[in-house]
Amino acid sequence: MANDIRSLICTTLGHVDHGKSSILDSIRGTAVVNGEAGAITQAIGASIIPLETIRGICGDLLGKLGMELTIPGLLFIDTPGHEAFASLRKRGGNLADIAIVVIDINDGFKPQTIESLELLKASKTPFIIAANKIDLINGWQTQEGTLLEKVEKQSEGVRKQLDEKLYTLVGSLAEHGFNGDRFDRVSDFTNQIGIVPVSAHTKDGMSELLMVITGLAQKFLEKGLEFTKDGPAKGSIMEVKEVKGIGKALDVIIYDGTLRKGDEIVIGGVDGAIVRRVKALLEPDALGEMRDSKTGFKQVESVVAATGVRISAQDVDEVTSGMPIQGVVGDVETVKNAIQEEVDEVVIETEGQGVVVKADSLGSLEALITLLKEQGITIKRASVGNITKKDLADAEANREDEPLFAAVLGFNVESVEHPSVEVIVRDVIYKIIEDFATWQKETKAKLETGKLGEVVRPCKLEVLKGYVFRQSGPAVCGVSIEAGTLHNNIPVMKEQGVALTKVNGIQHEQKNIEKAERGKQVAISMDGITIGRQISEGDILFSAVPEDDFKKMKDLKEYLSVEEKEIMKEIGVIMRKSNPVWGV
Ligand code: GTP
Ligand code: MG
Repeated sequence: MANDIRSLICTTLGHVDHGKSSILDSIRGTAVVNGEAGAITQAIGASIIPLETIRGICGDLLGKLGMELTIPGLLFIDTPGHEAFASLRKRGGNLADIAIVVIDINDGFKPQTIESLELLKASKTPFIIAANKIDLINGWQTQEGTLLEKVEKQSEGVRKQLDEKLYTLVGSLAEHGFNGDRFDRVSDFTNQIGIVPVSAHTKDGMSELLMVITGLAQKFLEKGLEFTKDGPAKGSIMEVKEVKGIGKALDVIIYDGTLRKGDEIVIGGVDGAIVRRVKALLEPDALGEMRDSKTGFKQVESVVAATGVRISAQDVDEVTSGMPIQGVVGDVETVKNAIQEEVDEVVIETEGQGVVVKADSLGSLEALITLLKEQGITIKRASVGNITKKDLADAEANREDEPLFAAVLGFNVESVEHPSVEVIVRDVIYKIIEDFATWQKETKAKLETGKLGEVVRPCKLEVLKGYVFRQSGPAVCGVSIEAGTLHNNIPVMKEQGVALTKVNGIQHEQKNIEKAERGKQVAISMDGITIGRQISEGDILFSAVPEDDFKKMKDLKEYLSVEEKEIMKEIGVIMRKSNPVWGV
């Protein structure tokens, strides 16, 4: 039996508060309202809507797709947060076959929206956009009919606002490399993203949303949805939960095969795969409400993909979400090796250079790694779990040769303090990347300006007429800083390009100072010269920048002032009179 088609796994993602949970609730509610008994089945962490119910909800709309629907239904994963999408992984991609990116139409693109798109792009998951909260558009009226009829019945002003907001979304999508349009204007879903305006509150657009997902699924995914009904169960750990009466239990999405009570299972782990036995399989009681703490559960003998189920098994305290799980058929060692290989494909362990990366689940680690690599950030080690002493030590080891990588980047793990390692822990991947980039930039600037502290900086002085206080031994005279900053102890020269002496004291209003900025008039003292001989009143002096310092400053130009860069040019011209390749 190789040709069964399983339900399509669908999930939502998008920015905080844009309405992911509400849309799932609304789809569920719509299904319950429209369907007869059995319209919807609650599974652990998921709701299953059979094709019949979808037909009932979509009515004529599905006919318009002009295709024969063969998928048995949709499995909506009720993920509690945006992050959960990343955790739902399977080898080679995301567990979800298709996704709904929820965007508040009045709020537009937000950081997590962008991150969602990046994650979908990276995992090559097809998706549509639910442009939610259309009921909040000023003047929106509840109307009868299909979504497009409802839109037609709105006032001109409302229609205009809706169009404008949709165009904004289309524009933002384009900025991120996606071609999108309102779903009814999309002629080819293979290269365009359909946008469905919806309201989770009024349920406007919900039928259309379901229709577009179903149509998309049928069109592109049928092949991928083939599964082996009687084969070993394959799944992904969604959550590890403490459950009253049974201890730690595993909430799992099964995407292939059948899992039975008593089956031996292999679960991937940070420190190697483990083998356990299914003690009990639990599903929500048909009468119970899913997220209610009083929810009743019933034991079942077996479950078939695609579904969600709670597995009770002994000793699963160490299991983390996103890990693969597989029923054992045949040799257990073979299964263990296969599962471990799958985990090892994600985890990174190198002797090379780069940052240390941590995440709370295998899926989120994979997502984080993918996005970091896209940014060209090299990774030394990447693993699941909280930050350890070894992680910090590894990051600290970078300080000497690779100070810009002396960092630990963590997603959804506990943050720690360290004096010399930058620890960036966030619950949005996007923020990690952004904050790391900022830190790198600041650190680079600090390191480089540190180097600048050691060089002779460009500066230009004029020896003031009538202010020679002492002609020699040491010579003391008044100067005005024409450009740049005069630092004590720098060598000085004239237009001949030969260092004459060095400044060994600066005074301003009879006080010794270490530097003086442009526009100031100060007294300087110099050994080994006589005013009137090597240097005269009215002369222009430059700092005699050594060639090496000159080159260094050329590399660090961005940290010099415009004025300093100007004097650099003048100094270059002076020096190249005797040596045409000086400083190049
Ligand atoms: P997180 O899980 O916190 O990321 O949020 P979420 O994306 O799941 O959003 P949720 O569904 O919790 O909705 C956020 C808020 O927006 C709630 O107060 C909802 O009542 C409200 N909301 C969601 N959909 C709609 C809608 O279509 N219209 C209106 N007016 N409000 C909505
Ligand atoms: Mg939510």
